[in-house]
Amino acid sequence: MLSFTRPAVRARAQLAQIRTLADAATKKHDVVVIGGGPGGYVAAIKAAQLGFDTACIEKRGRLGGTCLNVGCIPSKALLNNSHLYHQIQHDTKKRGIDVSGVSLNVEQFQKAKATVVDQLTGGIEMLFKKNGVKYYKGNGSFVDEKTVKVDAIEGGENAVLEAENIIIATGSEVTPFPGITIDEERIVSSTGALSLKEIPKKLAIIGGGIIGLEMGSVYSRLGTEVTVIEFQDAIGASMDGEVAKTTQKFLQKQGIKFKLGTKVLSGERKGDNVHIEVENVKSGKKEQLDADVLLVAIGRRPYIEGLNAEVLGLEVDKRGRLVIDDQFRSKHEHIRVIGDVTFGPMLAHKAEEEGIAAVEYIKFGHGHVNYGNIPSVMYSHPEVAWVGQSEEQLKEAGIAYKVGKFPFIANSRAKTNLDTEGFVKFLADAETQRVLGVHIVGPNAGEMIAEAGLALEYGASTEDIARVCHAHPTLSEAFKEAALATFDKPINF
Ligand code: FAD
Ligand code: NAI
Repeated sequence: MLSFTRPAVRARAQLAQIRTLADAATKKHDVVVIGGGPGGYVAAIKAAQLGFDTACIEKRGRLGGTCLNVGCIPSKALLNNSHLYHQIQHDTKKRGIDVSGVSLNVEQFQKAKATVVDQLTGGIEMLFKKNGVKYYKGNGSFVDEKTVKVDAIEGGENAVLEAENIIIATGSEVTPFPGITIDEERIVSSTGALSLKEIPKKLAIIGGGIIGLEMGSVYSRLGTEVTVIEFQDAIGASMDGEVAKTTQKFLQKQGIKFKLGTKVLSGERKGDNVHIEVENVKSGKKEQLDADVLLVAIGRRPYIEGLNAEVLGLEVDKRGRLVIDDQFRSKHEHIRVIGDVTFGPMLAHKAEEEGIAAVEYIKFGHGHVNYGNIPSVMYSHPEVAWVGQSEEQLKEAGIAYKVGKFPFIANSRAKTNLDTEGFVKFLADAETQRVLGVHIVGPNAGEMIAEAGLALEYGASTEDIARVCHAHPTLSEAFKEAALATFDKPINF
């Protein structure tokens, strides 16, 4: 028996054991990425494009991470198709289109979603091949700071990888609600909510954040009675306050019920029902609710299970996020961390930007992510999109600002589309007119917000935007007029 004194020595001996026991091949790579979500797969492709011998380890069996498999993509497929279904039922008559016999085929509705997920996840495998990224199907765990072990899943191969650079991109998981057991049938997380086999009569949702409101929209459009229970006095998590209030009104008009300032005390499945007890935070009044399905959507938390990060002593903060410096480096400088598992908003495009920047740091010693310019979009109808600072943030920071607003009811394209709910709101520096934030609730807000991102990135003033010729008739004319409204009178309102 050997006696070990130093962890590194112990780890190397363990490695020798692993090699013998699993007969795993040892491979050397310049860059090893753990996790094949938007952060990890983008980092892997970029690293290969920059000439690194690159490997990516993914244990899900499919690339694309949360986003492509159980997040952004399937939810948007359901949002789009449920919107279409709702429109055909409720919005065609006034347009002179008579439709009858409309019904929902739940199986096909789900299949349409699955098809797009399959296409997109398969597409990343093709991109890996095209760019020469080696894909390991299995769980990646640290043996020591330069060695990662792959425990293969079906279709994969056991391996021991030695790497000069390692990028951790292991993402996040659903935050559990203490005392409520998720069975993904009657008490579901977003994953279960994306794959319900029947449309519930009643859906209760804990959390009026982005998942709650998007999934609430889907089922409300399909005829479900939806009740959102939110602890705070406002919905929309980090939305601008005015936008959140307006959005709530629109969603209420669509039939979604809200219980704000409300605490969930318990949630329990009884057969095919879920009983929920809630309490008003201010009055202390308790109430019992019943639902066929309860969705728990109170946020997500970083995921490092199975990574064996402890062996390296990687630092984790109070919220479970891996701690990094401003170049994504952990305490071991060649191990970088990106995406949901570390700081910042849990968004796919943020993870992707970090993936690119982390690799650029490895290659060139510099990279770029502007955290003040990461857009958020909620894909309800109307959509909600924002970038930069909210009024609440500007007030708190003591920054003097001007507001410019333009309603879609005064926009000719919105009128032709009979889709006039909402507004564009600019927040500009009171003195220089520099754009500080843009908040849109309205049709195509998610596409329009890209123009605001460009303005923020280049330090544009609202006058710069108002002087750019925007095509007519387009929704983006509302964007231009809202910019104009911060320093002058809008023309069409
Ligand atoms: P992930 O996508 O979580 O990927 C991490 C991957 O690492 C996973 O596939 C996991 O299996 C793998 N992994 C973990 N540990 C290991 C290991 N030890 N070995 C091997 N593999 C491992 N964001 C948006 O920007 N727009 C949206 O519209 C949007 N919609 C969403 C809807 C829902 C319902 C949900 C839940 C999320 C949504 N998000 C959206 C958030 C988005 O999905 C995440 O921000 C994004 O996926 C984070 O990317 P990531 O690469 O950091 O992690
Ligand atoms: P979230 O952080 O957006 O919202 C959670 C909500 O739950 C908050 O409003 C919070 O106040 C509330 N809450 C927390 N604890 C509660 C309790 N005990 N009782 C009642 N309410 C409670 O988190 P969500 O919706 O789960 O989404 C997770 C992440 O996924 C988000 O951070 C988001 O970035 C990402 N996402 C992004 C989407 C997009 O970009 N379109 C779509 C869906 C998810």
